[in-house]
Amino acid sequence: MKNDKWIRFYTPEILADNLMDQIDNLFLPSNVIDICAGSCNLLRQAQLKWPKAKFYASDIEKINRESYLTGKFFANQIDARDISSIKKEFKRKRNKLVLANPPFGDSTTFQENSIPSNLQELYNSSKNANRIECQILISNFAILNTGDVFAGVLPENIFSADKMYGFRENIFKLFDNLKVSTHSIKFNSSEVKTRLFTGTFKQLKENRKISSPQLSTSKNNQEINLIRGIDNSVLKNYKPSDSNLEVLHFNNLEGKILQRKSIKGDKNYESKIIGKNDVLIFRVGRNAGKIFIPQQKHIGLAPSDLLLIFKNGKKLGKKDLEKFELSLSRRTKGLTSKYISKNDVYEALKPTENCA
Ligand SMILES: C[S@@+](CC[C@H](N)C(=O)[O-])C[C@H]1O[C@@H](n2cnc3c(N)ncnc32)[C@H](O)[C@@H]1O
Repeated sequence: MKNDKWIRFYTPEILADNLMDQIDNLFLPSNVIDICAGSCNLLRQAQLKWPKAKFYASDIEKINRESYLTGKFFANQIDARDISSIKKEFKRKRNKLVLANPPFGDSTTFQENSIPSNLQELYNSSKNANRIECQILISNFAILNTGDVFAGVLPENIFSADKMYGFRENIFKLFDNLKVSTHSIKFNSSEVKTRLFTGTFKQLKENRKISSPQLSTSKNNQEINLIRGIDNSVLKNYKPSDSNLEVLHFNNLEGKILQRKSIKGDKNYESKIIGKNDVLIFRVGRNAGKIFIPQQKHIGLAPSDLLLIFKNGKKLGKKDLEKFELSLSRRTKGLTSKYISKNDVYEALKPTENCA
């Protein structure tokens, strides 16, 4: 019997198709597995791309005969939270592609059995989330060997919820060739936000190393001076003049002014003036999380609140700024309009913990 506590929907074909497109064309799997296979839509799309592979569908429910694929197809009925049984069945399959669109929802039961050592850290970071998608993902990762590819339709919360921070950072450590794209599935009355996640599983040894961007100079929140630009709602569209100070209002990577904005000159915005060692961070919009090195013409002006000023950010140096930007880009939230918070910036500037 279906436990209707869990949101159940089948993977729409278009989403399955987009997911397959995200997988590197050079990868030719011998075995394709979905441990929450449902309608087998994910597997069916994979078969169109790799017709010679073997296909394995497993689900907590019996796979419906009508959902069976033609050709080399094998069906199973296993509770995916039972890591031992899942591993026994699938771990030894070589050169595999593991597909997942796990059920999303709260979970109160947690089985601590057979967590592989390379996933212990990930498991620990999932404990306080109490989400079934975390449990099922751990089972998916438990059957991966080095070089296997994982491709999943994953809920947005994994990538944006604050309480999922540790969990997603640990996931990122497990893979090379990471690609994450955003999508949403529309149903009659609701919208499910998801991200398509693909990556190649790393060697166990590498999993233990720090793979997230790590800054050579770690900073704590007190040392980081982040200043939000001037609130957009108080800006005027007047041209700058003796009585109106120019405010930088842009969110493009070239620094082109979006609209000329200004503010009454009698207000004191000294703390929001861009200095020569400062770095700007796009706070909202499609470039949210990207950094901008102010040009000479920007220095001495104040930005609008589309931007954050990272005071003396240039002192991090070019390499660390690149790592910082990469780390920040993983933290952007929102689907239709992206944004980052100050807290995301603090987190991106923290050293990553070694999980060895
Ligand atoms: C979002 S659907 C996946 C759909 C599937 N990928 C497809 O192509 O249609 C989630 C599936 O997970 C299954 N499921 C829920 N809990 C499970 C568990 N503990 N173990 C295995 N499968 C589970 C559900 O029966 C459902 O078929």
